[in-house]
Amino acid sequence: MFLITINSCVIIKKLDNSVIKRKIKMNFEKTAIGIDIEEVKRFENKTIDNSSDFLKRIYTVKELEYCFSKKIAAQSLCARYCAKEAVVKALSDLKITDVYYSDIEILNTNKGVPQVKINKYPDIKVKVSLSHTKKYACANAIVYLH
Ligand SMILES: CC(C)(COP(=O)(O)OP(=O)(O)OC[C@H]1O[C@@H](n2cnc3c(N)ncnc32)[C@H](O)[C@@H]1OP(=O)(O)O)[C@@H](O)C(=O)NCCC(=O)NCCS
Repeated sequence: MFLITINSCVIIKKLDNSVIKRKIKMNFEKTAIGIDIEEVKRFENKTIDNSSDFLKRIYTVKELEYCFSKKIAAQSLCARYCAKEAVVKALSDLKITDVYYSDIEILNTNKGVPQVKINKYPDIKVKVSLSHTKKYACANAIVYLH
């Protein structure tokens, strides 16, 4: 399959040589991206008891339940921190500067795909992708305003 973009159109040539033409609907003035990477060690040894202020400032109750259900909570905490930071960066590019980490909730579907909700702005569409290793976690985000 080949994909060519010309003048706001995507032209997809399939393997059987048939061609599909689709208009691109993305409005760049309403779209922004963000990215972040952090060291996992910053999130190690955190528990609800010894770090509750830090955790509550950043994560929702459901996010904490999810992260602490994982074998290595620090990696999931770190990845979500990166995703929140990436969302904040993208929002800032769209001149939205009143969203804090705890306003952003990242929960996974039953297939593992992270979904984002911004409590203050339920209509803002956000996509994130997370990744983590022993040492680092990273995430990127795309934000789209209607
Ligand atoms: C999806 C997949 C490629 C992720 O690979 P991975 O190396 O384990 O992932 P990384 O360590 O880079 O990143 C982990 C993060 O990926 C995200 N993730 C997990 N599954 C995902 C999926 N299906 N789609 C998008 N993101 C996914 C999660 O946010 C996860 O972080 P979390 O555990 O803190 O929630 C892997 O789980 C896989 O191959 N799964 C089998 C295929 C599959 O499930 N396909 C989708 C359903 S058809």
